Amino acid sequence: MSKIIFISNRLPVTALKDNGKIEYQKSIGGLVTGLKKYHEQADSVWVGWPGTADEEISPADKEAIQKKLIEYQCLPVFLTDQEINLYYNGFSNETIWPLFHYFTNMTTYNIETWAAYRQVNERFFQTVASVIEKGDIIWVHDYQLMLLPMMIKDQYPDTQVGFFLHIPFPSFEIFRLLIWRQEILQGLLGADLIGFHTFEYVRHFLSSIRHLLGLDTTMNRISYEDRYVQVDAFPMGIDYQFFAGEQQDDPLHGDARAIIEKARGMKIILSVDRLDYTKGIPERLKAFERFLAQYPEHHEKVRLNMIVAPSRVDVGMYDELRKEITELVSEINGKYGTFTWMPVWFFFRSFSQESLITLYRNSDVLLVTPLRDGMNLVCKEYIASRTDCQGMVVISETAGAASELGEAVIVNPNDSNAIARGLKMALDMPRDEVLARNKMMHRRLQRYNVGFWADEFLTALQRSVSESQQTIAQRSIENYHHIVEEAYRNSHKRVLFLDYDGTLVGFTPTPDRARPDDELKRLLKDLIDDPKNTVVLISGRERHNLEKWFPDLNLYMIASHGLWIRYPEQEWIMTVPLDSGWKEPIRHVMELYTDRIPGSLIEEKDYSLAWHYRQSDPDMMAVKLNEVRETLRSMIQDETLGLQEGKKVLEVKDSRVNKGFGASVLIQNQEYDFIFAGGDDYTDEDLFAALPAEAYSVKIGLGNTNAAYFLKSWQSMRQLLRKFADLSNLEK
Ligand code: UDP
Ligand code: G6P
Repeated sequence: MSKIIFISNRLPVTALKDNGKIEYQKSIGGLVTGLKKYHEQADSVWVGWPGTADEEISPADKEAIQKKLIEYQCLPVFLTDQEINLYYNGFSNETIWPLFHYFTNMTTYNIETWAAYRQVNERFFQTVASVIEKGDIIWVHDYQLMLLPMMIKDQYPDTQVGFFLHIPFPSFEIFRLLIWRQEILQGLLGADLIGFHTFEYVRHFLSSIRHLLGLDTTMNRISYEDRYVQVDAFPMGIDYQFFAGEQQDDPLHGDARAIIEKARGMKIILSVDRLDYTKGIPERLKAFERFLAQYPEHHEKVRLNMIVAPSRVDVGMYDELRKEITELVSEINGKYGTFTWMPVWFFFRSFSQESLITLYRNSDVLLVTPLRDGMNLVCKEYIASRTDCQGMVVISETAGAASELGEAVIVNPNDSNAIARGLKMALDMPRDEVLARNKMMHRRLQRYNVGFWADEFLTALQRSVSESQQTIAQRSIENYHHIVEEAYRNSHKRVLFLDYDGTLVGFTPTPDRARPDDELKRLLKDLIDDPKNTVVLISGRERHNLEKWFPDLNLYMIASHGLWIRYPEQEWIMTVPLDSGWKEPIRHVMELYTDRIPGSLIEEKDYSLAWHYRQSDPDMMAVKLNEVRETLRSMIQDETLGLQEGKKVLEVKDSRVNKGFGASVLIQNQEYDFIFAGGDDYTDEDLFAALPAEAYSVKIGLGNTNAAYFLKSWQSMRQLLRKFADLSNLEK
C-alpha cells in the first residue's frame, strides 16, 4: 500500500521545553492549519521541524519527542540553533519570503544562508529517504524546501513528487533579482506537479522558466528531460465542516467569549493575522484611524479587535513591526478613546481555532488587508464559520483569496481612504445583500474544501506521472538498450547519423561557442576507428564550420541541412543546384523584425535565411511569433521554397535541401545492417522519416517525432555512444 509523505518545514505539532518539561502545541500558519485534517485522515506521514532548537533539548528529550510525534503520524527533522538561524530565519525568511512578497528592499542576499538552505534541504532529504517505499506519493510544501523535489527525483525517479507553494510566486522581474534563481527553478523541476494558489502565480512561474531556463512550456506543461512537469493552480480550501460545524462547549473558548462580552452593544470589527509585515497591519490601523476621522457617527459604536499571533520573533524586522503596531494602537486609542470606549483592542497572542470560531461568529466585519498574501485562509474561515451568512469580509485585492471571493468588499491595501470606505460599506450593508453575497461564497467554500483541494492535487499528480511513465515505457531507448547493443554487436556494416547542436553538445547563447570538447572528439574518434562504422555528422551548420572543428577526423559530413556532402578526405559535393534570387525580399522583412525585436538575428546560409530569436524575450515572442511566421509564409511563392521551424528559429529555405535527402544519398546502394540516427530538432525529423523502419532513430527530449525512441539529454546520447565505442573496442 502506498502512503503519502507530506514534507514541510514546520510540523503541525510544535514541541517546546518549558520549565524542564516538553509541551506539545498545535502550530499555527496557513499551511499546517489547512492541511492537518487531511493528514490525520490519510495514510500518511508528515516530515518536518518540531519548532525547537537542538541546543534546547537533551538527547533523551529528542527521543521522547520522536516517540510522541509518532502518535501524530509525524517524523521530526531536528535543527541546530545555527541551522535555524541561517536556513530558517536567514535564507527562508530574509531572502525568499520578502522577495516573493515583493518586499525587495527587505530582501538580503547572503552566501552563507544560501549554503545553509541547501544543506538543510539535503537533511530533510535524508530523513524522507529513511521512510520512502516503492510507490509512495511525496508531497513537498512551501518555500523553505524548494530544492528538495530534485533531490528526491534524482535518487528516487520512480516516486510521484508533488510540490505546492503556499506563498505568491512573484513576477519574473522580481524573481530574476534572486542570485540563485536558476538553482531554485531546477530544484522545483524535480516535481511531477507544481501547484500554486492562483493562475497569476502559475503565469509568473512559467514566465521565469522560459526566461531563465529557456524551456518551452505548452499548455502549462514543461517537457523537462525525459519527464513532463505539470504546473497548475489549486486554490487551497479550508476544513469547511469544522468551521461551519457545531462547537463543543470548551473552556478554551472562554477567552474569546470574554472578549465578545466586553464589546456587547457595539459593532465588532475583527482582524486576525500572524505577525508579519506582509499582512499590512500598520497600514490597516492607519486606515481604521481614517475611518474614525471620516465617520464620527461610529464613535463609541465600533471596536476593532486586532489579534496578532507572534511569529518569527527572532527575525529582526518582526520585532520592529511589533513595536510599530503597539505604538500605533496607543496613538489611536489616545486620540479617539474616551472613559467608556477604547476603539482598538490589541491582542499579541495566538488563539485556538475553536476560540477563533467564537470570535468569527460574533464579529460584524472581518478586516483582512495584507499587502501581499499567497492565499489567506482567515477570510475563508470567517465566512465558513458564519453559518447565518451574516458578517462581511473586507479584503485586499493582493491576497490570493480575493480572486475567489469576488462578493466580498475588495480594496487596495495601500489606500487608507478606500479601506475606510470599504469598512463603512461593510458595516452599513443591508442584511439581504450581505446574505446574498455570503451565500454564494459559502457554496464555493463548501464544495472546494481542503479535502477537495488535496484530492484534486493528488489526482493531477498521478495523471502527470502516468503520462510521463507511459511515454518513457513506450519509447525511451534506455529501456531497450540490450536490444540496441545486441544489434550493434551483431552487425558488420553500420552507419551512424549524428546531429551536432543539442545532440552531441548542449546549447550555448551564440552558435560559435558550442565548440567540440576533448571528450566528444575522443568519442567520435573511437567510433570512427572501428572499420565497421561509417560515422556521419549531419548538421544545419555551414561546411566550413564543421571542417574547422573536426579537421583531422575521418568523418563523413553533411552540412547545411543536406546541401553539402563530404566523404572523408574528399571535396564537398553539392546535392542540389541553387538559386539565391528569392533571398532579397525575405531578408528585407527579416531585417525589419530584427530591428523591432531585440535579441533576434539573421543567419544566412547558401540555401536559406534563418531568423533566430533564442535571445529574445519569450513573452514578447509568444505575442509576435505568429505575426513573423505568417508574414514570412505569405512571401513564399516559389514551390521549391519552404518555411521550416526549429528551436527558436524560423528558416526560409530551399525545400529540396533537407537532412533526409542528404542521408538518403549516403545510404543509397549500401547494405548497412545497423542504421542509427540521433537528433533533437525539427530539422532532424526529415532524417528520421527518410530512414528505413528497422533503423534506430532517437530524438533528444519528449515531443511529437518521427523517431522511434527518445533520450533525455545530449549527455545521455554521449553515454549511449560511449557504450557503442566500448563495444567496438572490445572487438579489437
Ligand atoms: N491562526 C490560529 N490562531 C491564531 C491566529 C491564526 O490558529 O491566533 C490560524 C488561522 O486560523 C489560519 C492560520 O493561522 O488557519 C493563518 O493562515 P493564513 O493563510 O491566513 O496566513 P499565513 O499564516 O499562512 O500567512
Ligand atoms: C505561512 C507559510 C508557512 C509557514 C507559516 C507560519 O503560512 O506559507 O510555510 O509555516 O506561514 O510561519 P512559520 O515561519 O512560523 O512556520
